Amino acid sequence: MLVAPSILSADFGCLEREIKSVCDLGADYVHIDAMDGHFTPNLTFGPVVVAAVAKAASKPLDIHLMTENNPFFVELFAPIKPEFLSFHIEEEKHPHRLISRIRDLGIRPAITLNPHTSEQAIEYLLCDLDMVLLMSVNPGFGGQKFIPSALEKTRRLKELIEKRNPNCLIEIDGGVNDQNAPALKEAGADILVAGAYIFGAADRKKAIESLK
Ligand code: DX5
Ligand code: ZN
Repeated sequence: MLVAPSILSADFGCLEREIKSVCDLGADYVHIDAMDGHFTPNLTFGPVVVAAVAKAASKPLDIHLMTENNPFFVELFAPIKPEFLSFHIEEEKHPHRLISRIRDLGIRPAITLNPHTSEQAIEYLLCDLDMVLLMSVNPGFGGQKFIPSALEKTRRLKELIEKRNPNCLIEIDGGVNDQNAPALKEAGADILVAGAYIFGAADRKKAIESLK
């Protein structure tokens, strides 16, 4: 299991130290929630802050766009060269075109699904994707409770992926902890995002290891 700590729950007063801490303690990616205050009822960080995060991080970035006007934000964050760049299917009229653009920029494209969105919405995009991010909370805030139906959706998505593109990864984001991680693994998850569980732990190394 790969683990991507979400910096939304980090202490922003000492962000560099927080990033270095999780990278040194076993994180595989650093998960960045870029919210625009329109798609989400919250506003986070733009490319200036994310570039500083990239400088501090010894692990690749996984940027999760929670934005309207995705093509604009793709171009804005692309120069930071994250490993993954994901956008929400609910907010994109031409997802296939945007996936191609992300790949042309040398970044691995991913699509995110909100809790209410069926995995079938992306069946014909799977062959062009490197990862699907399933939200297991409503986007906007860290520290929310895991929505149990995400587990069934992970299983169904895994079946579609086996059929359409076995190389495509499944990432789960929201309310992930050591209690639901084993079931998520069994359902087909490859990467777990965790914010509150890791950054709120007394022993972050142990928290990351427990997810793995
Ligand atoms: C929610 C974000 C998540 C969030 C996860 O909108 O996409 O990445 O930070 O945080 P936890 O693990 O605390 O639910
Ligand atoms: Zn996220």
